[in-house]
Amino acid sequence: MGLLRNALSSNRSSAPLTGEKTRMFTDYPDRLLVAARSRATGRIVGGETLVRVPVMEGEDDDPDGFAWLGFVSTLPSERGKGIIKKVSLEGMSWCVEQGIEEVKFTSNPNNPERESARGFYVKYGAAIIAAGVGKNTDLFSWNVSTAIDKLTASH
Ligand SMILES: CC(C)(COP(=O)(O)OP(=O)(O)OC[C@H]1O[C@@H](n2cnc3c(N)ncnc32)[C@H](O)[C@@H]1OP(=O)(O)O)[C@@H](O)C(=O)NCCC(=O)NCCS
Repeated sequence: MGLLRNALSSNRSSAPLTGEKTRMFTDYPDRLLVAARSRATGRIVGGETLVRVPVMEGEDDDPDGFAWLGFVSTLPSERGKGIIKKVSLEGMSWCVEQGIEEVKFTSNPNNPERESARGFYVKYGAAIIAAGVGKNTDLFSWNVSTAIDKLTASH
């Protein structure tokens, strides 16, 4: 998992994730850590995290809310093999089980390391709903049904 964190950005540590950090996503029913393991090597090669965010906004209260997506990454040597599409489909299926219809996340438009991720998100149905939030951040929304339809069709 540490290598995956390093795969997110080369300036991030590749040290193993502590048990405490991993449990932040594995020990709660409203959080998910998806990890893809290679059958050939047994290594974890890709992953993502999802955390449910309930919404309380008067008329628009939605206890199911949306899910916040993070940690989307595939080891550089394993890219282009469909790993993140499988990981994303797993995450989206969990959203359906949770009654969650929308996934949100941010991405930096000025970071070349994010180019393929942004291409992937848009190709599979995510859209920017607020550009330039903060200095280097676009806010995306990804409809769960749309993602599942597109990811399933690509298999
Ligand atoms: C983004 C990333 C996770 C993709 O992982 P992957 O396992 O190689 O992706 P997959 O093989 O499952 O396929 C991704 C899909 O996106 C498409 N894609 C990739 N780069 C693209 C681009 N620049 N424009 C359009 N589509 C693109 C691929 O063609 C593929 O779709 P297809 O099968 O329909 O052709 C990987 O490149 C990565 O770890 N990047 C660095 C970390 C990162 O930026 N994370 C996101 C933080 S916001």
